[in-house]
Amino acid sequence: MVRALITDPVDEYIVNELSRHGVIVDYKPGISRDELLRVIPNYEVLVVRSRTKVTKDVIDTANKLRIIARAGVGLDNIDVEYAKSKGIEVINAPEGSTQSVAELVIGFMITAARLVMLQDRLVKDGGWPKGKYVGTELFGKVLGIIGFGRIGQRVAELARAIGMKVQVYDVIDVRDKAIKLGVDVVNFETLIKDSDFISIHVSLTPNAKHMISEREFRMMKDGVIIINTSRGEVIDTRALLKALNDGKVAAVALDVLENEPPREPWEIELVKHPRVIITPHIGAETREAQRRIAEILVNKVIKLLNE
Ligand code: MLT
Repeated sequence: MVRALITDPVDEYIVNELSRHGVIVDYKPGISRDELLRVIPNYEVLVVRSRTKVTKDVIDTANKLRIIARAGVGLDNIDVEYAKSKGIEVINAPEGSTQSVAELVIGFMITAARLVMLQDRLVKDGGWPKGKYVGTELFGKVLGIIGFGRIGQRVAELARAIGMKVQVYDVIDVRDKAIKLGVDVVNFETLIKDSDFISIHVSLTPNAKHMISEREFRMMKDGVIIINTSRGEVIDTRALLKALNDGKVAAVALDVLENEPPREPWEIELVKHPRVIITPHIGAETREAQRRIAEILVNKVIKLLNE
């Protein structure tokens, strides 16, 4: 009998469908690292989201493991090369959360542009700050999208429907996709300098770490709005805090942080900042995305187990 261990919260469909296919499933979301290391030798399949770090020590201990299934997009929490070197398949469900993340980005842009988070806080504190803060429309503004994969493309479509001008930058050639969606491809510097809103949609590669840092903030337009739903490490948090305090950045919406949850003093200061919207990595946290991810993942797991 094949045994599967699920170590992060996932849609119940994964548990039910794997069980229906004869897999013995242990659902232990939130399992501690020590327990994971202790029990992993019993399993052929490991299902994770972003919380569980599948590092060399986990892989070395997992002597029966055949499949690591990532219920989501990013594989940065898994040592993919090492797993593959041990003959373990690593799979994910990259299509599942595209719409959910893209919708969150649009919500973030509107919330940030109208300072909804600040107005909300002031009213809850007993105030009525009508007329104190004047927002901006998204219509006619330039949105710079860094990373033009599935999510970047969907954000571009939705933003175009609102009337934004969209420019994109990617390390790979995305001209065909850009033409199809009616957006401009620009170089990194142009995107940084000429955007009113910047939304980041890159994977966490070594080159992406701190790709937005002091130099980039200096180059940006005054009053720029930054949205990050990719990975926290892409932005140098200390530089972001400084840019906010200097007034260079008007508002920020973050679904991800360098440390989740935040622990460094500058991260705590950042998340408490009145012009910052912070959510706890919920981009894919919708019923629809989680069900889509579950369906994609289960199909892939069953196919591999039957090979
Ligand atoms: C992903 O890469 O899919 C996201 O980080 C979402 C998640 O796992 O919650």
